[in-house]
Amino acid sequence: MNLTKMKKNSRNWRGITIICVVLMMVLVLVFEIKYSMERLNPRHAHGKTSEAWVTKTQMDQSELYTTKQMPTPSMAPKFTCDRSHYSYDICTVHVSTVLDTTTSTFFIQRPTTGSLDPGNNNPTVIKIRPYPRKFESFVMSNIKELTIKSTEPIPSCHVTHKHPALVFSAGGYTGNFFHDFNDGFIPLYITLNSMFQNQDDARNVVLVISKARDWWVKKYANLLGQFSNHPIIDLDNENNTTHCFPFATIGLVSHGFMTINPQLMPKSKSLQNFHALLSKAYGPIISNIQPQNAIRPRLVLVNRSIEHGRSLLNLEEVKLAITKQGFDVIVFEPKASTPLSEAFERISSSHVMVGVHGAALTHSLFLRPGSVFIQVVPLGAESVADLCFGNPARGMGLEYLEYRVRGEESSLIEKYGKEDMVIKDPVGFLSGKTWSKSTMDIYLKEQNVRLNLVRFRKYLKIAYMKARKLVNERGY
Ligand SMILES: *[C@@H]1O[C@H](CO)[C@@H](O)[C@H](O)[C@H]1NC(C)=O
Ligand SMILES: *[C@@H]1O[C@H](CO)[C@@H](O)[C@H](O)[C@H]1NC(C)=O
Ligand SMILES: *[C@@H]1O[C@H](CO)[C@@H](O)[C@H](O)[C@H]1NC(C)=O
Repeated sequence: MNLTKMKKNSRNWRGITIICVVLMMVLVLVFEIKYSMERLNPRHAHGKTSEAWVTKTQMDQSELYTTKQMPTPSMAPKFTCDRSHYSYDICTVHVSTVLDTTTSTFFIQRPTTGSLDPGNNNPTVIKIRPYPRKFESFVMSNIKELTIKSTEPIPSCHVTHKHPALVFSAGGYTGNFFHDFNDGFIPLYITLNSMFQNQDDARNVVLVISKARDWWVKKYANLLGQFSNHPIIDLDNENNTTHCFPFATIGLVSHGFMTINPQLMPKSKSLQNFHALLSKAYGPIISNIQPQNAIRPRLVLVNRSIEHGRSLLNLEEVKLAITKQGFDVIVFEPKASTPLSEAFERISSSHVMVGVHGAALTHSLFLRPGSVFIQVVPLGAESVADLCFGNPARGMGLEYLEYRVRGEESSLIEKYGKEDMVIKDPVGFLSGKTWSKSTMDIYLKEQNVRLNLVRFRKYLKIAYMKARKLVNERGY
């Protein structure tokens, strides 16, 4: 990848980040409504076992298999789709299949021997977009659609694979750090672990990815290597090759925002297991362990550049307060070009992470379980903050603290005055309006924060006590 391309990518990345955080707010609202509905009706959608999607429940079965005939083992459907979930569809082709990359089509042989619906010459065709944001038609319209077809002629194989394929898209919002994990790697982890109990089988899956942009593949090469032993197949750049697989799954399973629900996972896997996978990709960490007493707990303070909003206006004062509390402090401001191994080393070797709500807090996935995470929540960001990082932090086994900014700590007070609804009651202000980008921009882009150090020190004290304990327990 050359330098200009890299620069362009980094610009794109920044643009996408801004849009995404705003979009995230909408999604979150939609999602919350949906979730609260699901809570009222626990039998709906998420209450299924992990196998559900490969077996039954509202399957969109191949028409080759008509309901009047008595099913026998040989008549098992050649492919099945589960479209019953809120955020994703998933289809599995259970028999050997040919992927034509030119048309993004999986071909399946029609039955050659007699009885199955012989008079029906209509091809059976199913279409699916393999991206777990089904609830959002705008982004889904940009996701490449795949076809599963049982019709002749079947193209011949250029490349024959011994192992199955898993197809998903790295388009949509993927490319923004939050979405890389939320819509990509976490669902990928869930899907592979649900499909295969055996680690070796899971790692033998061939990942077929659409919109696998060069910089993205390069940035996540180590992580992709933890998921699969095989080189990825770039669905958009295969020069009309055909690939044969013994079977294939198209789509990714999601359990909701930045979440792995252990109750839906074989062996109750959780975000902590996901963290363990990240350490395999980016560790080992902390080589030279020093004598216990010499070690001050380490705190990583996440900085945001001022042009995106939600910046910490008194960063230097906050940094001083952190040092005085007894921490070694590192200021971390991730860039698109920051190697993940470097970010991982910094964060996983820290005992505490502090940052204002924003995509960079996705790095909290790098904290070791038991570490402390303080999310600074600007006015108006209370619900997104919990959904995107608070809830995942609990799933990660972190000690999670939320520092909710008060009116007088927000830069918005200068513009609106302390009596304005914008300051006094953000939740009321937001809920009284139909959603609009300009309203959200008030909170997400116009707002910066200046922490009240007297109040913030109370959080630092708690964090310090917990961090000290960690250092004593772990020795580093
Ligand atoms: C497809 O062709 C292009 C241009 O010839 C080449 O750069 C690329 O590596 C090819 N892709 C594959 C998967 O062979
Ligand atoms: C792929 O096939 C299409 C249509 O058949 C053709 O236009 C295109 O040039 C082919 N591309 C490559 C790289 O062979
Ligand atoms: C933190 O971000 C601000 C705003 O962009 C910048 O001015 C400052 O230099 C950064 N501080 C550090 C220590 O990186």
